[in-house]
Amino acid sequence: MADNHPQKNDKHPYKPIVMIGLMGAGKSRIGRELAAKLALPFVDADEEIVKAAGCSVSDIFELYGEDAFRDVESRVISRLLNGKVQIIATGGGAFINADIRKIVAEKGISLWLRAELDILAERTSRRGGRPLLKGGDAKAILKGLMDERYPVYAEADIIVESKDVPINETVKETAAALSAYLDKQTGT
Ligand code: S3P
Repeated sequence: MADNHPQKNDKHPYKPIVMIGLMGAGKSRIGRELAAKLALPFVDADEEIVKAAGCSVSDIFELYGEDAFRDVESRVISRLLNGKVQIIATGGGAFINADIRKIVAEKGISLWLRAELDILAERTSRRGGRPLLKGGDAKAILKGLMDERYPVYAEADIIVESKDVPINETVKETAAALSAYLDKQTGT
């Protein structure tokens, strides 16, 4: 784990933080570190889906289809948002679902980790298990998803650029962006 310690000026959210963004944006990695920094619990929605289904994300897509995956995803994220204040990493397609967007807007704070195509392509090439990237040229698929999804992700409450820099830098930037957002909300 990176060396992220709580800082005096870190602010604690009053609602769950929902990490959104494309595959490879760093939602789980940054989310986990941000949780450590803020001394909050962390949960990965895809891991919860895997637990609920008893098989991997790839297997769910293959055996039951994407619609079934989206259905479980929606139920799992609703459950997590009705729970404690924590950092929730979601899969890249979650926020694209209008029902999920609505419940995130009501019960959480959305945080988009925005990343350039080259960064996403490089990072996703290091880890498999992503059914949407299996069907062809992963970079071209990611480009298509960027075109489709970035205008929707742009509705997020907070936007942080996920660059090719040491993870600590992005975690610090994320915590600072969250503090600024919370200050604005509370008028401080
Ligand atoms: C998906 C992203 C994946 C996973 C599933 C579908 C998507 O999560 O939920 O393969 O639609 O973008 P990550 O974004 O964590 O890779």
